[in-house]
Amino acid sequence: MPKRLIIAIDGPAGAGKSTIARRIAARVGATYIDTGAMYRAVALWAMRSSIPLEDPVRLEALSRNAHIQFAHGHQRVQLNGEDVTDAIRTPEVAEAASVVAAVPGVRRAMVDLQRAMAAKTSVVMEGRDIGSIVFPNADIKIFLDANTEIRAQRRAEDLTAQQIPFDLETLRKQIEERDFRDRNRAASPLMQPLDATYLDSSHLSPHEVEEEILKIVRAKTSNGKELVH
Ligand code: DC
Repeated sequence: MPKRLIIAIDGPAGAGKSTIARRIAARVGATYIDTGAMYRAVALWAMRSSIPLEDPVRLEALSRNAHIQFAHGHQRVQLNGEDVTDAIRTPEVAEAASVVAAVPGVRRAMVDLQRAMAAKTSVVMEGRDIGSIVFPNADIKIFLDANTEIRAQRRAEDLTAQQIPFDLETLRKQIEERDFRDRNRAASPLMQPLDATYLDSSHLSPHEVEEEILKIVRAKTSNGKELVH
């Protein structure tokens, strides 16, 4: 009997989740879903609509009306039909996303969307609450971590590649603040589910992390043969 596979990859910002989740999805033939991009898209829309980030009622309404889609092999993010893939990557949107993601109503709207996206296909979904809340019964749960210094350096490399100016010290502080907010909020805080495999990517190459995770996937799926793509 072919089986749909759900692989949950959670962890803090800059641990390498996107790179790894993309690679794993390509290797096992599953759909890659970046849930952080969804919170960023809501934040971008709130900023553009001048909705105060302290207004949970309007933020929830906005998130229920947001038409968020992934396009072009799930590499591009669309908000209400507009490609916002680059627009959601600024430090300002990252800050706002972390605030918006603490609003329970916004989370409910995004979790509903995420579950719908995985209804018909195998997915590799990355975020903060995938193994704990979105898919507590996920087939495979990975908690990907890395130390703050390395995470700040990786963010710096990302921003350099996108030609977005930054100050390393400020970046480090922002990462620490976002971590604190993501780990300590009341609604679905970032945490490691008890049944997740913990991986520290600080001193591993993306290839090494990918191979570690694929070992776990293979052990569960007899080499991916029973996957539905
Ligand atoms: O992974 P990222 O930096 O793109 O995520 C943006 C913000 O959204 C970040 O502050 C954490 C939050 N987030 C969340 O709360 N739950 C998720 N499943 C994914 C992201």
